[in-house]
Amino acid sequence: MTACATAALLTAGATGAMAACDDGEIVIKFSHVTNTDKHPKGIAATLLQERVNAEMDGVACMEVYPNSTLYNDDQVLEAMLNGDVQMAAPSLSKFEQFTKVFRIFDLPFMFVNMDAVDAFQNSETGQAMKESMLRRGLLGLGFWHNGLKQFSANKPLLLPEDAKGLKFRVQPSEVLKAQIAQLGASPQPMAFSEVYGALQTGVVDGQANTWSNIYGQKFFEVQDGITETNHGLLDYMVVTSADWWDSLDDDVRDQLETIVMEVTEERNAAIAEVDADNRQAILDAGGTIRELTPEQRQAWVDAMKPVWEQFTDDVGQENIDAAQAINA
Ligand code: LMR
Repeated sequence: MTACATAALLTAGATGAMAACDDGEIVIKFSHVTNTDKHPKGIAATLLQERVNAEMDGVACMEVYPNSTLYNDDQVLEAMLNGDVQMAAPSLSKFEQFTKVFRIFDLPFMFVNMDAVDAFQNSETGQAMKESMLRRGLLGLGFWHNGLKQFSANKPLLLPEDAKGLKFRVQPSEVLKAQIAQLGASPQPMAFSEVYGALQTGVVDGQANTWSNIYGQKFFEVQDGITETNHGLLDYMVVTSADWWDSLDDDVRDQLETIVMEVTEERNAAIAEVDADNRQAILDAGGTIRELTPEQRQAWVDAMKPVWEQFTDDVGQENIDAAQAINA
């Protein structure tokens, strides 16, 4: 890719438009669903694109399509297996049709903080999960952090009883559906790109997401407030098609793998700062954030944690034990 085309791509990246790769370059389309500004995935994908296009110029060229401009998460993995896109970073909740082990990441209150998440993902157990979908044609290249999720609704949520009878948008995940049902509420699976409209029009009453998604998608504008529950994880797997990856020459694959690894380490190390920025941005924009007393938070733990029992066989007791040992 020429310097001029790179500049055009970086400018265009913010809106999702694309610049051309040069003839002969391996084109790597990276599709994702979030915004680019301030967002952990948007920032990481842009950095990955910059590095690939600078360091692999003439060999490979990356085009990043943010904001669901190319595919929604429910389409992107099929598109990858069809060879229409080469990389993506869907949330871990979106992989359950490929491997039930990933359900561990959706279990409520599984990780005490992002340091525990990082340690688990980098443990032998976590690293083995990158290869758990190989028989379905997908290879994980790295975990990218986003953060812990908070609940929001069109009324104040201080105790689990406050959620009773409400409709909550969830990602398409059996664990997330079960945890909303556990609250006596109704889970409504829905694509990320549809959530703002559904909250605005009252199709759903509430949702759960990270500070960066609540800020980036402006959910706080159409909710009464956000309750700081930190009840679950939303992280990503950078994923590629195993066939496409195997088709690359060794030196190309090694260079790409190194860049992905370095970007992963750099951006994951910055997650606390990015998270805090987005939380503050919500407040600065007039959003309401409600903090819980230790007793109130414990009530959410008591209400939701029983769903673990439903998924222990899928996830493996030994994996739960490994995650809990890291928390300790
Ligand atoms: C969601 O669907 O809420 C998230 O997976 C979106 C994202 O990629 O952060």
